[in-house]
Amino acid sequence: MRCLLSAYLLPLILHSCTGADWCYQTQVSCDSHCKGPDQWSKVNADCGKNRQSPINIVTKKTKLDERLTPFKFTGYQSVFDSTMKNNGHSVQVSIPITATVSGGNLEETYKAVQFHLHWGTDGGPGSEHTIDGEQYPMELHIVHMKQRYNRLEDALRDPSGVAVLGFFYEESSSSNRKYDLFTHGLRSIQNTNGNTTLRKVSLNQLIPPESNMTNYYRYDGSLTTPGCTEAVVWTVFENPIPLDREQLRAFSTLKFHDGKPMVGTFRPVQPRNGRVVYRSSSAAIAASAVLILASICAAFGLSRPN
Ligand SMILES: *[C@@H]1O[C@H](CO)[C@@H](O)[C@H](O)[C@H]1NC(C)=O
Ligand SMILES: *[C@@H]1O[C@H](CO)[C@@H](O)[C@H](O)[C@H]1NC(C)=O
Ligand SMILES: [Zn+2]
Repeated sequence: MRCLLSAYLLPLILHSCTGADWCYQTQVSCDSHCKGPDQWSKVNADCGKNRQSPINIVTKKTKLDERLTPFKFTGYQSVFDSTMKNNGHSVQVSIPITATVSGGNLEETYKAVQFHLHWGTDGGPGSEHTIDGEQYPMELHIVHMKQRYNRLEDALRDPSGVAVLGFFYEESSSSNRKYDLFTHGLRSIQNTNGNTTLRKVSLNQLIPPESNMTNYYRYDGSLTTPGCTEAVVWTVFENPIPLDREQLRAFSTLKFHDGKPMVGTFRPVQPRNGRVVYRSSSAAIAASAVLILASICAAFGLSRPN
């Protein structure tokens, strides 16, 4: 009841002092007044447009595209030092070196700007994209912009100015040593605006080996946080990155600006609105081949006399 009353009164009382802060669904409560995902279009009208991200990828509706060839990476193997920061919504690491991606039917070469992650609660479901309704525990976004731009703001004015590479995580029984420095760094940035130096990291170290990056999905979408700008060419890789339970849980020790646990940092999936999701030649094929085989065998078994 108090919540109901507040819902009516507080917007009037606080109108002038709260502003238009956006937040995730886990932060919405009677005493927070921030705008959760269903209100983001009030923060930025673009969040209510029709090519929004993330989406659920229905593999049987994806369209095979032979042009989705393997990517060409440069600088992904370079080791660099950077700042990792709790920005109040995620942990973000800027990329101070030149690392680029091309190929894979991208229009031109894109350079890496930053990476950040989205996660659930203590290793529970937390990815932004879902595959056939399955939500993975976490998702990595490596944000790139066309090489000719110098500022992300400029790239965001181009409908294909930004390319985000998205990777899922899956829980594994053994820890992923390549993530040790990164997950240890989280301890130093528990509070919002906290930052620390991440030393001797490379992009290659964070993602699967190139041979495991040939299976992916492609569609046109948006940033998954306000302004929700529709300028993103999305690539979502099928092969997840393994982290053990403890490593996944480390992300839930970060805190939002109000000191509450930073959990559930994902936007719910958005309508596809007739957009086509393309798949590279090897994505989802293995699974469907097994299914087809299984049904042929089943049919054969059923129709066989005796
Ligand atoms: C990191 O934090 C320090 C204060 O602790 C601040 O002076 C510095 O500007 C911050 N750096 C970044 C990149 O946010
Ligand atoms: C590469 O993919 C194969 C097949 O899905 C998987 O078994 C293997 O663990 C992957 N390797 C890495 C390092 O992700
Ligand atoms: Zn993201």
